[in-house]
Amino acid sequence: MKLSLALFSSVFCDTLPYDTQCTSIGGTCTDYRYLTCIAGYATGKCNGDNNRKCCLPCDTSCQLKEESDSLNDGKCTSAGGECKHNTNYCNGYYSSGLCGGGSARQCCKTGSTNCELLTYSNTWVKGYNGLTVKIDQGFKSAMDTMNNYAGQCGVTVYVTHAFRKEGQEIGGTVVPPASHSNHLTGHAIDMNLDTPRGWCNSSCLAAESNTNAKCFTDKIIANAGLRWGQSFNDPVHIDDNLWYSNSNTWTDLYYKHQNSCS
Ligand SMILES: *[C@@H]1O[C@H](CO)[C@@H](O)[C@H](O)[C@H]1NC(C)=O
Ligand SMILES: [Zn+2]
Repeated sequence: MKLSLALFSSVFCDTLPYDTQCTSIGGTCTDYRYLTCIAGYATGKCNGDNNRKCCLPCDTSCQLKEESDSLNDGKCTSAGGECKHNTNYCNGYYSSGLCGGGSARQCCKTGSTNCELLTYSNTWVKGYNGLTVKIDQGFKSAMDTMNNYAGQCGVTVYVTHAFRKEGQEIGGTVVPPASHSNHLTGHAIDMNLDTPRGWCNSSCLAAESNTNAKCFTDKIIANAGLRWGQSFNDPVHIDDNLWYSNSNTWTDLYYKHQNSCS
């Protein structure tokens, strides 16, 4: 009797009672892929797999707000997207700035699932060891600038790392990691330099004693639109400071490229 009671409670504590974390706040546990939830979904309150989430309640004032917010959705709908709370399922990627309402109400665009990163190579900027250098189109002019600087300083930039795919799946939703690395949006490279004075790796770059390498990194420092990682102990890194200069664009590009590129 004791054993069967223990079994009974262990089975049911794992199943039904767990949904009460959702139902007790007026929500409904459901597979979020098939129902758009106005107030958004909360994770960790429902039994079942990662797709079963808690659709939060939306009372009359919440519904009225949704109606008035949706009057300002024109930019999204004309781009073929759908505005909804960004915890809803989106078989594509979310973009901000296209929907009415608060910052969590975003435009789910499903139009393009093709990776739109550029493959970059130039006279003085190449992939190290045959690496295909993938960047966002918005970072191309920064790469061209680096190519010019490299030519002027007599060095070749060998890129060891550019775009990075880094899925942080939390409850079935990919969310940006706290690092907000510009590699995740295709706005950063790591590099070594080939110089007339030899190969310049991280120690060499940090030392700033190779005059060709210093010529190059000095030009990066002098350019307000570029950032050399030396200031945060990462001398092989160069980016355009996208996260700090425009976190909305960073976030949009994060979802766009992380969801469609490998
Ligand atoms: C950088 O290059 C120097 C000289 O070739 C070498 O001694 C050093 O181990 C290298 N450092 C790294 C981090 O690869
Ligand atoms: Zn880096």
